[in-house]
Amino acid sequence: MALAQFLCELDQLGREAQAVFTAASDIEALEAARIQFLGMKAGLLKAAQKGLGLVDKADKPSAGQRFNQVKQQIEADLQEAQARLAGNGSAPVDGPRFDPTVPGEAPRLGHLHPITQTIEELKDLMGRLGFTAVEGPEVEDEWHNFEALNIPLEHPARNPLDNFYLATAQRLGGAADEKGLLLRSQTSTVQIRVMETTPPPVRIISLGRVYRPDDADATHYPMFHQIEGLLVDRGITMADLKSVLRLFAKSFFQDDVHIRFRPSFFPFTEPSVEVDMSWQGRWIEMGGAGMVDPNVFRAVGYDPEEFTGFAFGLGIERVCARRHNVTDIREFYKNDVRFLQQF
Ligand code: PHE
Repeated sequence: MALAQFLCELDQLGREAQAVFTAASDIEALEAARIQFLGMKAGLLKAAQKGLGLVDKADKPSAGQRFNQVKQQIEADLQEAQARLAGNGSAPVDGPRFDPTVPGEAPRLGHLHPITQTIEELKDLMGRLGFTAVEGPEVEDEWHNFEALNIPLEHPARNPLDNFYLATAQRLGGAADEKGLLLRSQTSTVQIRVMETTPPPVRIISLGRVYRPDDADATHYPMFHQIEGLLVDRGITMADLKSVLRLFAKSFFQDDVHIRFRPSFFPFTEPSVEVDMSWQGRWIEMGGAGMVDPNVFRAVGYDPEEFTGFAFGLGIERVCARRHNVTDIREFYKNDVRFLQQF
């Protein structure tokens, strides 16, 4: 065979290989192309090598040299294509390999936790009833968590086993009037903080975490969230309390929800009630409420002869569970995406 013809076919082969490698849109296509050109048994380059044996003897050295060059070039082109498909090549993304009609891969977006969603909704709803949202600290002193709320030292609610104390007054090494610290067991602390710094009238809600050493079960958890409401003005009565809670329940659940009051006792309200809501043909307890005890008004410097008010505290987990028919509040804390993504 004439040298010129051999070289011409060889160059043609090199260009073809490059074109086919470049066009390969995935690893499988590229592997097929590799076998087509560089396959050990029936590859096109192997066939070209046979042609090398047919060129004139005198031309063999230059033909062989050229054959090796082309072979190296083809191998280099293959490597470049492999790198491109492995994602670290710098090949352009336009051209025939990009198919704009293939549906995109939507990124998975998260969303707010159901408890946070409930808190935001409660703020909105109570905001429309004229209640301003305020916050208080989760680490509280005994004055705000107990004493100002008419819970004296000998009251069982102050039992160390029923609270997460961080430091007792003695351990703080302080004076007799210094107060111990604990994780607040209720949001009623915020009532005191607001009334200490604001003259009446007051119309606030406070939402946040509270802590009690309860065993976790379907309706209890050592940490949970409460919404506290407080309204103080002239001439406020129990009827106002009930209308606000009814309005709240009807707007939040948007169905035929009923509420009922059961007589109860809290040191900081008088009279006091438990608030139940209807759910699946039963009554479930949502929290407590009542008319602010005159002793609480005295503790914050309000005149109980001039002002009256109501307060309520509801468990947000229970409100949220009832809304979504969740039967075990522990689900809210497992961080299981299969549960959370349903909200
Ligand atoms: N703080 C009470 C509790 O945690 C609830 C409550 C709030 C009761 C306000 C009356 C008034 O159980």
